[in-house]
Amino acid sequence: MSLNIQLSDWTEALLDKLVEYANNPGIAGNMTDSFPHPYREDKGKAFIQFAKTSETSKIKAIFFKGELVGSIGLHLQHDISRKNAELGYWLAEPFWGQGIMTTAVKEMTEWGFKNMDIVRIFARPFGSNLASQKVLEKAGYQLEARIKDGFYKNGVFVDELIYSKRKER
Ligand SMILES: CC(C)(COP(=O)(O)OP(=O)(O)OC[C@H]1O[C@@H](n2cnc3c(N)ncnc32)[C@H](O)[C@@H]1OP(=O)(O)O)[C@@H](O)C(=O)NCCC(=O)NCCS
Repeated sequence: MSLNIQLSDWTEALLDKLVEYANNPGIAGNMTDSFPHPYREDKGKAFIQFAKTSETSKIKAIFFKGELVGSIGLHLQHDISRKNAELGYWLAEPFWGQGIMTTAVKEMTEWGFKNMDIVRIFARPFGSNLASQKVLEKAGYQLEARIKDGFYKNGVFVDELIYSKRKER
């Protein structure tokens, strides 16, 4: 069963909710270090500006029952990797465990293959992030590699997992 969610453009009107939800170590602790913690208004403003203007990163606000619940983005790679995009996402903690991100990943993947000149989408969850691995598997992604201690996050080495989905051609 697929949930009814909407993937919408980011706007400044979402700033307060963005900062409220993104300022969470349980989210930041599973993201790259470019996701700030603490997450304050200036960071939120910069993010929304980036999401609105980037040519290579396609970032959408996730809405569930009419309210902002998270973010999902496809980041086009460059040079010889330019037919690939990296998928990243986070969900506000009050909404975890309802299948929202599985639905968002499925929809964003379909959107990416339709609207971007790419043949492969990949995501790189931490080996410790079982919920994210489950999301990717439920959305039809396959595990390509496990790189031992590929990431160093908050002073600890963790495995880097590479999941991907390929465009049907
Ligand atoms: C990871 C995250 C996006 C998951 O979103 P979500 O909407 O809660 O995910 P879903 O409900 O679609 O699916 C989660 C699945 O993981 C499972 N799960 C959750 N925590 C788990 C755990 N500790 N161990 C094993 N499975 C777990 C859930 O049971 C569910 O599987 P099920 O549907 O078979 O029951 C969300 O928790 C989040 O934003 N976390 C912080 C940021 C983050 O990790 N971003 C991704 C970086 S790669």
